Amino acid sequence: MLLPLLPFLLLLPALAEGHRAAMLRLGLRDSPRGEVSPAFLSLTLDASLARDPRYVLLLSNSKLRTLAMALSPGFLRFGGTETDFLIFDPNKDSTSEEKLLWEFQAQQENTLGILYNFANCSGFHLIFGLNALLRKGGFQWDSSNAQALLDYCASQRYNISWELGNEPNSFRKKSGIHIDGFQLGRDFIHLRQLLNNYALYQHAKLYGPDVGQPRKHTRRLLRSFLTLGGKVIDSVTWHHYYVNGQSATREDFLSPEVLDTFATAIYEVQEIVGQTVPDKKVWLGETSSAYGGGAPRLSNTYIAGFMWLDKLGLSARQGIDVVMRQVFFGAGTYHLVDANFEPLPDYWLSLLYKKLVGTKVLQVSLAGANKRKLRVYLHCTSSLNPKYREGDVTLFALNLYNVTQHLELPDYLSSKHVDQYLLLPYGKENILSRSIELNGHVLRMLNDETLPELIEKPLGPGSLLGLPAFSYGFYVIKNAKAIACI
Ligand SMILES: *[C@@H]1O[C@H](CO)[C@@H](O)[C@H](O)[C@H]1NC(C)=O
Ligand SMILES: *[C@@H]1O[C@H](CO)[C@@H](O)[C@H](O)[C@H]1NC(C)=O
Ligand SMILES: *[C@@H]1O[C@H](CO)[C@@H](O)[C@H](O)[C@H]1NC(C)=O
Repeated sequence: MLLPLLPFLLLLPALAEGHRAAMLRLGLRDSPRGEVSPAFLSLTLDASLARDPRYVLLLSNSKLRTLAMALSPGFLRFGGTETDFLIFDPNKDSTSEEKLLWEFQAQQENTLGILYNFANCSGFHLIFGLNALLRKGGFQWDSSNAQALLDYCASQRYNISWELGNEPNSFRKKSGIHIDGFQLGRDFIHLRQLLNNYALYQHAKLYGPDVGQPRKHTRRLLRSFLTLGGKVIDSVTWHHYYVNGQSATREDFLSPEVLDTFATAIYEVQEIVGQTVPDKKVWLGETSSAYGGGAPRLSNTYIAGFMWLDKLGLSARQGIDVVMRQVFFGAGTYHLVDANFEPLPDYWLSLLYKKLVGTKVLQVSLAGANKRKLRVYLHCTSSLNPKYREGDVTLFALNLYNVTQHLELPDYLSSKHVDQYLLLPYGKENILSRSIELNGHVLRMLNDETLPELIEKPLGPGSLLGLPAFSYGFYVIKNAKAIACI
């Protein structure tokens, strides 16, 4: 009786290594879990770009504009640490005596103009962070410089939304000035009143307080800020990074535990918002893989896509309305487009996301695999994509296993055609590559004005969806007739 058992025993190692397909359960008949902003995937530029007018001039590059345009519509947030050290001075010859403070200096009006035009001509709405560290006697916000800047922007008819300050939780560390949440709330009310004096800005949006990770002291600041200033802001903004760019490892970038820490952070912020201003939307006002400019050879390669795609998936699922990626261009290694104007893997990932993923979020779960290592998200397919129809759905998945994993659609979808958009690293550096291929074709611009076509690989009905070790991809299930998407 020993022999018949043998085939069964031989099968076991294969199962243990995960060669079996994991079954998907898709919530196509339920109402959507939620809906995010059409500007869900938005971008940032770091305020350090204004340090030198020559950096800002790079924004006139036509290739960069082509790349930005393809990711529109969205918000373009101009902010970061330098926000609170930036003085608007229309007098070109003046120099600041404060060592800490630096200026727009020469052509600063031009700087604003180039920034505004870059956003406007690429289809983005500019959000500009005003300096919150200008203080009268160390306490109350001194708005005179903001007023000079608003006067100038209004005279140019720039349609801009506003922020005040960047990561106020670390003001003491950055400048020695401590501002508590109530004072910051009063400052935001002051700014709202100031904006109301301008015909162009009386309906302009105001976002804040752009706090960092919800650690204990930051949670306290956020709570007191929202208690007082919550009524004058249009969305609550906070910042998130998974790891420190100086010490981050390859293992961190592939770790389900590290990815899961984000869900906890969202929960902590939402709890405070729910208790203070429950009707306000929550935005990630600045976010990327690793803080401190990113992790070299990680934040700018294929491996960064795990954090980025999982962040997009989790954010939408947990009710974050907008996610602003630090940065589109410039500053550090976490950029989407590098200093040579070459789009990096996260650029292409963002582009596919924009083309395929719509605003309605659907339920999805997996049976037969470790859900932390094989991560799946489901949305209605973007209604702006002419290739697809109402009722189509887009699944996206990340495989953190070191072996191929297969996803299986439920029986009632076994007759459906599926378009696969599988992204794999290109070149011998493997997951640390700065090049990426879509369904086996390397993604590169055809010329400065032309992006490549994003060509699907059609899978026949009943196919398993195969994801190689350490990879990610999108699958559009055509003619799925999801009620939630109609
Ligand atoms: C750009 O400016 C034009 C003209 O002022 C305006 O009609 C258009 O809505 C702007 N685009 C964006 C994205 O703000
Ligand atoms: C400014 O832009 C916003 C967002 O695009 C738009 O809703 C608003 O109507 C614009 N305001 C003006 C005065 O053009
Ligand atoms: C995959 O990882 C496991 C440990 O999680 C290890 O034992 C195994 O050797 C790895 N396999 C490959 C193909 O790298």
